[in-house]
Amino acid sequence: MTKVRVESSNWELIWECEVNSQKPLLPQLESNGIEIPNACRTGMCAACLCNAPAWDNNLNKSLRGEPAFPLWEWEIMTCIGWVVDTQETIILQTMT
Ligand code: FES
Repeated sequence: MTKVRVESSNWELIWECEVNSQKPLLPQLESNGIEIPNACRTGMCAACLCNAPAWDNNLNKSLRGEPAFPLWEWEIMTCIGWVVDTQETIILQTMT
């Protein structure tokens, strides 16, 4: 399990939770009560896009397929992206 800290676009803490490294982030965040905008859930629309301000190396952007377009190093689509097991807390910043 890896701890994820979710912050709003103005850096306010939304929630912290632990996530499984074998599953995409979006459904896990949702099951912890964290609402991330989403639509396609397949990496095509970018509605679920979050920033990882630390350009975190503990993120994998394509657990469930490839993003439909290139992402900056600090961006992750949470519907297809996931985290690796780490002792570090991963910070995600929502776009809202
Ligand atoms: S919900 Fe569309 S890219 Fe994630």
